[in-house]
Amino acid sequence: MDIVHTVAELRARLKKEACIGFVPTMGSLHPGHLELMRIARDQVDKIAGANGCIVVSIFVNRLQFGPNEDFGKYPRTLADDCEKCRAAGVDVVFAPDESEMYPEPQTYVVEPLEIQHILEGAVRPGHYRGVATVVLKLFNMVQPHVAVFGKKDYQQCRVLDNMVRQLNLPVEMLLAETVRADDGLALSSRNGYLTATERAEAPQLNAALREIVVELRSGNRDYMALEAKAQATLSVRGWRPDYITIRRQLDLLPPIVGDRALVVLAAARIGATRLIDNLEVSL
Ligand code: PAF
Repeated sequence: MDIVHTVAELRARLKKEACIGFVPTMGSLHPGHLELMRIARDQVDKIAGANGCIVVSIFVNRLQFGPNEDFGKYPRTLADDCEKCRAAGVDVVFAPDESEMYPEPQTYVVEPLEIQHILEGAVRPGHYRGVATVVLKLFNMVQPHVAVFGKKDYQQCRVLDNMVRQLNLPVEMLLAETVRADDGLALSSRNGYLTATERAEAPQLNAALREIVVELRSGNRDYMALEAKAQATLSVRGWRPDYITIRRQLDLLPPIVGDRALVVLAAARIGATRLIDNLEVSL
């Protein structure tokens, strides 16, 4: 496995690769990321046989963090991450520093318009501009045939999938199911912030989503009441929900009569940690 830090090194390394599968990350890798790498490998193997090349980028992107968010304390574990990538059969780790990624102020950005202002975007203004901009830059640097993202960041998947389609980027997007701990907690680098007591409570976020899904499957369409009940249940347990909401999978807008492909999304704080989760439901 090669570890490269500059765009020039990356381009030289990838020049002769026939098929590139790409997993962009911010590091602090967990089994959810390893699953994305496995999916990337499967797909490039299908396209190019044994000639596929898997690239993982590791870069904590300041542009997608708000001024009061956890950019400073976000875990940076490059040596450990590289070991995990090596064990997962990754071919190239691209770990640029900030001056390589942003050698000058980034005055050209990707604005995802409406979708960047709802849900996560309403709570984290500018977040999806930062995500879309860095992913477009990474795509231009790596020039992958296939890119894999996890559905745990559901709105991010929508934003990036739309970007690829609307800007005609030559990348096949694969969206992977969320990997969970046995108790249902979605794996996330931010789970490491949880105290033992908070970790024991954390699966309740997923439990609240599952309860809504059961109700939807049994025919309940009173979306507002379902959302309010879940918010109240979590609040009583000490959570501070930002939102728990039932949306259309297509555009994350509130469902209208007849919509059958839905997703229940939640973001809530437990202690100092903000967790997100979602469940798709097809009725
Ligand atoms: O999902 C993430 O880890 C990040 O948002 C991404 C896609 C690597 C962009 O910084």
